[in-house]
Amino acid sequence: MSDDSKKEKLIIFDTTLRDGEQSPGASMTKEEKVRIAKTLEKMHVDIIEAGFPIASQGDFEGVQAVAQSIKDSTICGLARALDKDIDRVGEALKGANSGRIHTFIATSPIHMQMKLRMEPEQVIEQAVRAVKRARQFTDDVEFSPEDAGRSESEFLCRILEAVIDAGATTLNIPDTVGYNVPEQFGALIKTLRENIPNSDKAIFSVHCHNDLGLAVANSLSAVMNGARQVECTINGLGERAGNASLEEIVMAVRTRQDIFPCSIEHIDTTQIVPASRLVSSITGFAVQPNKAIVGANAFAHESGIHQDGVLKNRETYEIMRAEDVGWSANRMVLGKHSGRNAFRTRLQELGVEFKSEDELNDAFSRFKDLADKKHEIFDEDLQALVTETSIAAENERCRLVALKVCTETGETPHANITLNIDGEEKLAEAEGGGPVDATFKAIEKIVNSGTELQLYSVNNITSGTDAQGEVTVRLERGGRIVNGQGADTDIVIASAKSYINALNKIMFSAESEHPQAGDV
Ligand code: KIV
Ligand code: ZN
Repeated sequence: MSDDSKKEKLIIFDTTLRDGEQSPGASMTKEEKVRIAKTLEKMHVDIIEAGFPIASQGDFEGVQAVAQSIKDSTICGLARALDKDIDRVGEALKGANSGRIHTFIATSPIHMQMKLRMEPEQVIEQAVRAVKRARQFTDDVEFSPEDAGRSESEFLCRILEAVIDAGATTLNIPDTVGYNVPEQFGALIKTLRENIPNSDKAIFSVHCHNDLGLAVANSLSAVMNGARQVECTINGLGERAGNASLEEIVMAVRTRQDIFPCSIEHIDTTQIVPASRLVSSITGFAVQPNKAIVGANAFAHESGIHQDGVLKNRETYEIMRAEDVGWSANRMVLGKHSGRNAFRTRLQELGVEFKSEDELNDAFSRFKDLADKKHEIFDEDLQALVTETSIAAENERCRLVALKVCTETGETPHANITLNIDGEEKLAEAEGGGPVDATFKAIEKIVNSGTELQLYSVNNITSGTDAQGEVTVRLERGGRIVNGQGADTDIVIASAKSYINALNKIMFSAESEHPQAGDV
């Protein structure tokens, strides 16, 4: 028996669908949440935090849909330490094979005084009550003292001892505002484990934010000091600067088994790049090229010296193998002559199931249109196409019908657009500084949305001049921010689609409540 097989396992708790979704504009539909959850399940992630059910009906249904579709991972829902929140999570998790309730209350002096306006003793009382209530629904209860990174360790010891006695099985220590540094955060975990009399009755977890770029380092320092669960997200998505990134945590522990005291063998790391691409395409949050593990340049050797070294022996400059995290050369999977069966089969292999024949037919006809414009269709094209089909299935009230744009050297670009809004066709034309500007101005003549454009970005989905461009547009109105996506081989059409997608979200869909903004 190798030494590694004696190591305890590091539990991976993914919160892309909950904390990740709290990134401004990263909201996901329940179908999108299920698609991401299926990839996480394929990766053998232990726990998937699927949302905050009390926030809105959409959040509730998202958690419920994930709970009903996933069998191998535990599904978790977030609740403030309030009866109504906990009961709502209990309800959403009814269909789950294995369900966890995660309840939290703030413990730092500033949060208790300024946000909760509660005395420390009242906070302990409310935490204990919440954990006991959660235990009425499941034996798997996680408790988080919010803003633990700025809380007093003596107070943390008292509240954590009390919630373990009340039935909490996992204690999650969040650095909510990303304030800690690795040595200090590791020491905090050690202090808590050593000073809480019943600490051996619970698993210690960490949840680090990345405001100082230290989320992964802080989480790993905690692991060195006894944490056995890490909360993280694909691509490091999350509130403000994000959370610890799952791919970095998993690959650090796997690559440095010589120093980490726990094992991560159960995670199928080849699902990392597909998951990263899926999350990026659904949320519209592009991955920076130099991002560790999942960035386009993460395994690219540019300098001659590096290339020469890698050709002689790859370990001269590579500490991981690209194929181990799911990088593979773009593979032509389908083409113009592929039939419906081949199309459906390849999408099933990618974890996509169609809810109805109509949805399959709609996606297949989009595929045929694309194959007319582009000879080789890659997995990435199929993912974008499915995202677009699911956008269409969300009963979009505003749709693109037709777009004509004229650009000519020395002339002002001009766009003519036709939109269908609630079944009625509306036309407009406008001039602009470029074709995209003219198109957006024409759309605005029709909708007059009162939004402000915060971001416009184009990424090619695969390589080559016939590749589809994937456009992300970020709009803001009255403090609310949404992202829209659109893909097409014509980037002006992709831009129009993404602008319209963002308008549908900001003008026609309900907003959900933020977990940390509440009354406890
Ligand atoms: O950052 C945080 O404190 C959280 C808690 C709800 C765990 O997201
Ligand atoms: Zn968080």
